[in-house]
Amino acid sequence: MSILITGAAGFIGSQLAYRLWKNKEDVILIDNFSYGHEDNLTFEDCDFRDKIIKMDIRDREGIKKLFQENNIEYVYNIAGIAPLPDCQLNPQEAIDVNLTGFVNILENARLSGVKKVIQASTNAMYENETVFPTVEDNFNLPTLIYPNTKYAAERFAESFCKTYGMNVTCLRFANVYGPHIDCLRKQPPFVAYMIRELYYDRTPIFHSNGEQRRDYIYVDDLIDLAILVQKSAGFDAVNVSSNKNYSVNEMYALAQEIMGKNIKAEYATDAHYWEKYEGLYNGKYPIKESILNHEINKYSLCDNTFAKEKYGWIPKVTMQEGLKKMTTQICKMLDGLK
Ligand SMILES: NC(=O)c1ccc[n+]([C@@H]2O[C@H](COP(=O)([O-])OP(=O)(O)OC[C@H]3O[C@@H](n4cnc5c(N)ncnc54)[C@H](O)[C@@H]3O)[C@@H](O)[C@H]2O)c1
Repeated sequence: MSILITGAAGFIGSQLAYRLWKNKEDVILIDNFSYGHEDNLTFEDCDFRDKIIKMDIRDREGIKKLFQENNIEYVYNIAGIAPLPDCQLNPQEAIDVNLTGFVNILENARLSGVKKVIQASTNAMYENETVFPTVEDNFNLPTLIYPNTKYAAERFAESFCKTYGMNVTCLRFANVYGPHIDCLRKQPPFVAYMIRELYYDRTPIFHSNGEQRRDYIYVDDLIDLAILVQKSAGFDAVNVSSNKNYSVNEMYALAQEIMGKNIKAEYATDAHYWEKYEGLYNGKYPIKESILNHEINKYSLCDNTFAKEKYGWIPKVTMQEGLKKMTTQICKMLDGLK
């Protein structure tokens, strides 16, 4: 019996693979390396570089064969295109991967009798919500491409569960942080960006006034829940959040304290938020400033009562502890690039 993890060369997929391997599970790992890195696949006591299969979740024949040739019991579909501006810039690709790719996994899981599929979903789908902490089954639908791909993916997951009696849990991750987060990509997550800039003694540029608040979850806590949900039946969508949010300024103060730095951040206007993505400002219909403004100043806080009550899950890692571990790994990695 094996466990398939897609997106296994990425930040979350690789950490999940390592935990399951440590739990003595037989893991099958795939990734198309569009965002993932080989560096994520090496750990103190194991190396997945020879084990990982380079495969795209959209590859119909490849995925079919993989399911036919292996006795796959559980599937973690962690593969996806996550950066919001990437999804805006190439919506066809985002929908193709995040939705069609997922349906390819679901259909093969159906044919081969997989016990449970666990999907990496997102709290980004709460972007238009105004009630906090936000609960799973009552929210305003999203606007941007990325959260819509994940929302639509959930609808298809529910369809497979209702139609065929399959079991799928969609985990709506809050902002995930921890070691191996990608701080070198074009648009790194905010936490990774600020640590990278502090490491190089550069002034980080934040948009708006830094008072916007988001909720976070440490990657190990997320993995605890991802394992706990294996056994549940039917369809559900579950918030994966610490139920605590922090402002950009609070996070920056913490990171400075941990890294022993004192660099004043610069604040830029909202309109320049995705300026590296020129294509979004081109064409007859450029991206609306109000959308950028809304995205930057978005408040997020997810209610994690459902995860606690149904799965007995308790997030354990404090922001201080988690940031410290993450900072140590990022600094070591950046030292190695010198
Ligand atoms: N990191 C977060 O804060 C966060 C929050 C909410 C949801 N998520 C979701 O969790 C998942 C993992 O996020 P992450 O932060 O580890 O991102 P990541 O970019 O580090 O990992 C995603 C992995 O998927 C791979 N991939 C992309 N397209 C693929 C395809 N067509 N076939 C096979 N592999 C493919 C990439 O190469 C990469 O290794 C994503 O689906 C993301 O949408 C992440």
